[in-house]
Amino acid sequence: MTERALASFALQAKFCAGLGAPFMAALCRALSAGIDPASQTGQRLANWPGEPMTDALPMRMTGALHWLVRSGRVPELAALYPPAALPDEAALAAAIAAVMADPASDAAIAEFLGSAPQTNETGRAGALMPGLLTVAAETGLPLALIELGASAGLNLNLDRFACDLGGTRAGDPTSDVIIRPNWQGPPPPAAPVNVIKRCGVDLAPLEAADPAVAERLLAFIWPDQPERLVRAAAAIALARRHPPTLHQADAADWLAANLALTNGAATIVYHSIAFQYFPPAAQARIIAHLEAVGSAATPAAPLAWLRMEMDDPAQPAMPAIRLRLWAGAAASERLLGHAHAHGAFVQWAA
Ligand SMILES: C[S@@+](CC[C@H](N)C(=O)[O-])C[C@H]1O[C@@H](n2cnc3c(N)ncnc32)[C@H](O)[C@@H]1O
Repeated sequence: MTERALASFALQAKFCAGLGAPFMAALCRALSAGIDPASQTGQRLANWPGEPMTDALPMRMTGALHWLVRSGRVPELAALYPPAALPDEAALAAAIAAVMADPASDAAIAEFLGSAPQTNETGRAGALMPGLLTVAAETGLPLALIELGASAGLNLNLDRFACDLGGTRAGDPTSDVIIRPNWQGPPPPAAPVNVIKRCGVDLAPLEAADPAVAERLLAFIWPDQPERLVRAAAAIALARRHPPTLHQADAADWLAANLALTNGAATIVYHSIAFQYFPPAAQARIIAHLEAVGSAATPAAPLAWLRMEMDDPAQPAMPAIRLRLWAGAAASERLLGHAHAHGAFVQWAA
C-alpha cells in the first residue's frame, strides 16, 4: 500500500475517534495491518490514481467491509462489529486479513472501491421539517417540494416521517421513520404540512427500491451508529411504498428549465449538505434563477428556498438552517438555526 493510502486511514481514524465512533476509528487503524499488499485490494490501493482523502478512500474501504459484513459472507469479521464490545485491534486486523485471503471477498472489495460513497441522511429531516412548518405557518398554503441533490430522495418523504421537533409534532405519528432531534431553543410553529407535489433532482439519483443500491447506502453508514442504520432502513422501506420522483440532472440546469410557481401552493426548493458539491457556476445560476422567479412570487404563489448547509463562517462545524421567502414584497432572509450534520440535534433560533 502507498504511504498516502496508509496516511489517509490514520487520518480517518482520528476523525472517527473525534466524532465519537470508536469502532470506526479502530477499524481504520486495523486496515493498515490487515490488508495484504499482494491482494487485489492491496494492489488497487497501492495504485490509487487520485488523492486518497479527496476520493474518500477510507470510507470506500470501510464501506466495502461493512457491505460484506451485512451480506452474511464474513461471519468471523461480523462477530467483531457492533453491537459486540469494542474489539482488540490485533483481532480486527487478523479478521480483515482472513477476509482478504479469500479470493472472492478480495475481488468483491476491490470492485466495491470503484465507486464513490453516496449517502442520504434522513436525520436531516429534523432540520428541514421545521423549515417546512415555518413556510406552512406563514403562508397558510399547501406545499410543492423540490429537493436539489436529493440522492435517493429519502427526504422527499419527510412529511411521512414521525417528527417530534421540541414538542411540535409533524408528519405521520405511526411512521417507522422517527425523527426526534435533541431540540434546543423554542419549538417551531405548528402548522398543517400538506404536500401536493414533490420531486427531486440529482446528478446521480439512487433508486432505493433496488436492493443492491439500498445495501450500498446502508454500508456507508458507520456501524457505530445503529440508530442511523435503523432509520435509513425504515426510510428505504417507506421509499419502496412511496417511490420519490427523481430527475437525473445538474441542479442548476434542471431548475432553469423547470422551476415554476404554483397558484395556491408554496413552492419550496430545499437542499441539505448538497450545495457545496455543486460547481460554483451552478451555485450562482441557482441563486440568480431563484431571485428571478421569486421576484414574480405572490402571497398566493410564494417561493421559499430552504437549506441546511455548512455555510456559516461563525459556526464552521455546524450546518446552518436558512430560509429565504418571496411572497410579493421584498424577500425575507432568515437564519432559522443550526443543526448537527446528521440531525442529532437542532439549535432553533427562530
Ligand atoms: C452529500 S450528498 C447529500 C444528499 C442528501 N441531500 C442528504 O442530505 O442526504 C450530495 C448529493 O448531491 C448530488 N450532487 C452533486 N453535484 C450535483 C449537481 N451539480 N446537481 C445535482 N446534484 C448534485 C450528489 O450526487 C449527492 O447525491
